[in-house]
Amino acid sequence: MSFSEGLAVSADAIQTYLDEALRDFGNSDLVQAMRYAVSGGKRMRGYLVIESAALFDVPMERSVPVAASIEAMHAYSLVHDDLPCMDDDDLRRGHPTVHVKWDEATAVLVGDALQSLSFELLTRGIVGEPRLELVASLAKASGAKGMVMGQAQDIAAETTLQPLTLNQITSLQDLKTGALIEWSCVAGARLGGADPEPLRQYARALGLAFQIADDILDVEGDADLAGKRLNKDADAGKATFVSLLGLTGAKARASELVAEAEAALAPYGAKADCLRDAARFVISRQM
Ligand code: IPE
Ligand code: IPE
Ligand code: MG
Ligand code: MG
Ligand code: MG
Repeated sequence: MSFSEGLAVSADAIQTYLDEALRDFGNSDLVQAMRYAVSGGKRMRGYLVIESAALFDVPMERSVPVAASIEAMHAYSLVHDDLPCMDDDDLRRGHPTVHVKWDEATAVLVGDALQSLSFELLTRGIVGEPRLELVASLAKASGAKGMVMGQAQDIAAETTLQPLTLNQITSLQDLKTGALIEWSCVAGARLGGADPEPLRQYARALGLAFQIADDILDVEGDADLAGKRLNKDADAGKATFVSLLGLTGAKARASELVAEAEAALAPYGAKADCLRDAARFVISRQM
């Protein structure tokens, strides 16, 4: 199976699981907006859960609920990221953002509810020993020691006069984007009862490369393919690898990171080929 076929298979399984999970939530405006917000997307984080777990022969029935959990968390982060008080975006995954299609209050509440849903799916999906560890680590990765802190630094950087240093931008992006990606890969290892350290190294490099690629796409991507507005980061005063190193420098750093990510997979041999493909996809993607 090619990488894109594998990604599509995981994405379908995740979508089916999310649809099923939301079935008994009724059909209020809030829940319709939740369904809308969790639909679509590349499902990269979910794919990383499933393929990291598959390295240790964990079947998809066990990994898909965990993959759905991280995709619900990620979808919440996007709904809030797009709000007028954050990045003020009107298009996401090729469709109007939640606050545009509904209203701001609904978008805030959809984000809140998807965050709770993420934990609910996680506790439902896993039985046995790694359950508490996964809940605790997701709380950390998504909150004020993880994604939310990265978002806070990203917004603060828009109005600081002194440009951020390379270390500061790296740390911001590790938190904003890296934390959920790292959690996804580590969760796969935990499901398999395996040492997560090699996958953690892989994911740390991959997460940074992923955000650098997003920042490059903002400058030279195709908005129709990306399904979101581009050419916004510079005007918004975002601190990115592109703002600091320029396009050429950012591309070089992203390539180095992909090589690092691939090197971290050495202990798994050919079994990790789809994770190697994922690393290459992250910097070659158009969406
Ligand atoms: C977008 O994430 C936000 C970033 C962290 C760069 P994705 O590029 O994974 O978005 P979807 O889920 O595919 O829409
Ligand atoms: C978002 O980063 C990271 C999140 C935690 C959601 P961006 O703001 O660059 O993502 P896009 O470009 O809107 O998808
Ligand atoms: Mg943002
Ligand atoms: Mg944004
Ligand atoms: Mg972006």
